[in-house]
Amino acid sequence: MSENQKTTPLTDSEALLTDLTSNDAVAKTGAAPTDTRTAANLMAAFGGESMANRKYLYFAKIARKNGDEEVAKLFEETAHHETAHAFAHLELIYPSNEMTTAKVLALAAEGEMYESVTMYPNFEREAIEEGNSAAVAEFQEQAKESLEHAGIFEKAAKRFGALKRVEAFHAARYQAALDKLSAAKV
Ligand SMILES: [Fe+2]
Ligand SMILES: [Fe+2]
Repeated sequence: MSENQKTTPLTDSEALLTDLTSNDAVAKTGAAPTDTRTAANLMAAFGGESMANRKYLYFAKIARKNGDEEVAKLFEETAHHETAHAFAHLELIYPSNEMTTAKVLALAAEGEMYESVTMYPNFEREAIEEGNSAAVAEFQEQAKESLEHAGIFEKAAKRFGALKRVEAFHAARYQAALDKLSAAKV
């Protein structure tokens, strides 16, 4: 994989999938352009709408805890709209008529692996540097859970023969990440 493909997690995953599944029938169509500003903007917009959804659900919990039921409902209703906005972006990023179950499982596993072996370890290092021990603990915990999720998706992906090469690639990385986490515990 070339350096210029490593711009965003999505780009990385997409490039990996295109590369690894190029001989497979499931990968005949690329899910999304990965090298344009619009592709990056769609991903950013998807991220923003997704965050708004979870943030409003969280705010609804706070409003409800404070006894403000009407405000809680307002947040929840708006959160549903944000989900629709996020799904509209996803439809352009991963067109549903081009996606297979095998492909979405591979994308999901790759995303979880990225979180576990790249994103959280980087965040953990910076939290250590800044002396934020609560964040260090949180990042370590979620790196482990992301790895578990990757394993669950890998297992599900095994039911799809077309993904043998992706599966083997992920399995090797999964084992390496597991070894690294186990080693870190001692
Ligand atoms: Fe929105
Ligand atoms: Fe996860």
